[in-house]
Amino acid sequence: MRECVIFAGSGNPELARAVSEQVGMPLGTCSVERFPDGETSVRLLESVRGNDVYLLQPTCPPVNDNVMQLFAFADACRRAAAGRIHAVLPYYGYARSDKRHGRREPITASMVALLMKASGIDHVLTIDLHTTQIEGFFPGPFDTLTAVPTLCAAMRGELPADAVVVSPDAGRVKLATEYAQRLDLPLAVLHKRRESGSETRVTHLVGEVEGRTCLIIDDMISTGGTLVESVQALRDAGAAGFHVAATHGLLLGNAIARLTDAGVQRVCVTDTIAQELDEGGVLRVVSVAGLLAGALRKLASDESLEELF
Ligand code: R5P
Repeated sequence: MRECVIFAGSGNPELARAVSEQVGMPLGTCSVERFPDGETSVRLLESVRGNDVYLLQPTCPPVNDNVMQLFAFADACRRAAAGRIHAVLPYYGYARSDKRHGRREPITASMVALLMKASGIDHVLTIDLHTTQIEGFFPGPFDTLTAVPTLCAAMRGELPADAVVVSPDAGRVKLATEYAQRLDLPLAVLHKRRESGSETRVTHLVGEVEGRTCLIIDDMISTGGTLVESVQALRDAGAAGFHVAATHGLLLGNAIARLTDAGVQRVCVTDTIAQELDEGGVLRVVSVAGLLAGALRKLASDESLEELF
């Protein structure tokens, strides 16, 4: 292995520590502060000359701060003559801005990718990216891991034998199929129609859910609105119980309370975004530290990541 070091931004330092311990790579010493006017201040407190550097930073809320911090880390590494600079983004903020919905809109996911490159980042590693086209926005190597096997392993014992995996919309059918295959469960699909800029309505259900427990999956839970709407449609169709799973638990505001009030019995997410303890509650958090550690071990010795996909 080359000399390798992980630097933790403030996006999820607990995950960075866990990955560092599991892969046996040191956490670099650095200072991350704010200038009085709110500007980001990053300083590396050790040499990185010639080293492989892994910048572990989910660009979760506060998104703009975390994104800017990532750029600052990369720039500091580049100017300090680091070897290869890897951005490890367990969660890629702005991923939902991956296309224009009308004229005169930015594609912010592309801006972030190009700015990563401009900051000196050579390679990006992420998990369950919102859409695969984002990989093409970065002009360099880009690897996307999946947390679906980790989530399925955690949920397998909790789901009744007659459960059904539900995709909340047509865009998540591929992801839902992966869950269904791994859990050996049937699949159902909801179809939504956009009513306005912020409102959608479920119009169709394909699949059998009557009397069954539904595992509704998504790549991320933000406000919980998508899943609450899905629960309502599935309940109208006679579903008997509800579990939800997603890789990225943004869980903004009262998302967990909204889901619980809607009748969701279990919310399973990973720690791509740090979560608060919810002892006795519906939230279950499974760690992606082992997945990332496995990937970093392989990257450090230039091995293929194929078996992790
Ligand atoms: C949408 O394209 C995403 O895949 C999620 O369904 C969505 O972002 C979840 O957001 P919320 O929880 O606010 O409905």
